[in-house]
Amino acid sequence: MSASSVPHPVDTPMGPLPGGLRLGARIRAALDAVGPSGLRAAIQAFLLGPEHFRAFRLLAKVEPMLLFPQDRASLSDLDRMLVEPGDIYAHLPTLFRLTRDGPRPRVLELGTRSGDSTLALLLAAKAIGGRVTSVDIEPCPEATARVKAAGLAPHWTFLLSDDLGLPWRDPIDHLFIDTSHRYEHTLEELRKFEPFVVPGGVITLHDTTSHPEVWRAVESYFRGRSDIEVYRYFHNNGFTVAEKRG
Ligand SMILES: C[S@@+](CC[C@H](N)C(=O)[O-])C[C@H]1O[C@@H](n2cnc3c(N)ncnc32)[C@H](O)[C@@H]1O
Repeated sequence: MSASSVPHPVDTPMGPLPGGLRLGARIRAALDAVGPSGLRAAIQAFLLGPEHFRAFRLLAKVEPMLLFPQDRASLSDLDRMLVEPGDIYAHLPTLFRLTRDGPRPRVLELGTRSGDSTLALLLAAKAIGGRVTSVDIEPCPEATARVKAAGLAPHWTFLLSDDLGLPWRDPIDHLFIDTSHRYEHTLEELRKFEPFVVPGGVITLHDTTSHPEVWRAVESYFRGRSDIEVYRYFHNNGFTVAEKRG
C-alpha cells in the first residue's frame, strides 16, 4: 500500500479531530441533536461525531438489546445464543423453527465455521430425533467443542470436505448453505444438493444481502420453478428461504 493510500486517522469518523472541519461537523451534529433530544444527546453527538451518532441512534431504535444486554443466567440454551450478537444471530430462530416445526429431521449444513448455525440446527434436530450433517473445508474445532459442550454430539456428523467433492445420495429435509458466497460455487451447490431435498423440504441460504452473488445464484437457479416458494429477509446480512411444495 502506498503512503498516499494509507487512511489518515482524521479520515475515520472516530479519529482525532482534523482541526476546524471535523470540529465544525461535531458541533453542528450536537446543535442538531440538542433541540429534539436534549443535552445528553448533544454531548453524545459531539463526542461520537455525526456518522457514529447516527449509527448509535439507529441501534437504539432497531436493536436496543445490543445496548441493554439481557440477563443471560435465566435464558435457555437457544435463547442465550439468540442474544449473543453475531453475523447470523437474528436468523437462528428461523433455522431452528424451520427444522423443528417442519418437522425436518434430515439436515445438511454446508459451511460450519464456529458453529452458530450448527447449534441452532442441532437443538432443533434433538427436539425431533433428527440429525445434522455439517460440511466444511476447515476442521472447525470451535464448532466441535461447542457441540460437545452442549451435549449435542450424538445428533451430529461433521465431514471435513469440499462440499462439491462430497459423494451424496441421501434425502434432505433442510439444506442450509453458508460457504464461499461466490455465484458459481453457490449455483453448483444448488445443482448438486437441491435435487435431494424432498417435497415439503426447505433450502435456506445466509448472506443474501451482504453477498449479492448468493442472491443472484438463488434467482438464477429457482427461476421458473413452480414447486418452489422463495422468501427473503434483508437484515443481519440477509437470509433466504426456498420452500419446496409438498
Ligand atoms: C460464513 S462461514 C459459515 C458460518 C456458519 N454457518 C456459522 O453460522 O457460524 C463459511 C464457512 O464455509 C466454509 N467453506 C467455504 N468454502 C467451502 C466449500 N467449498 N466446502 C465446504 N465448506 C466451505 C469455510 O471454511 C467457512 O468455515
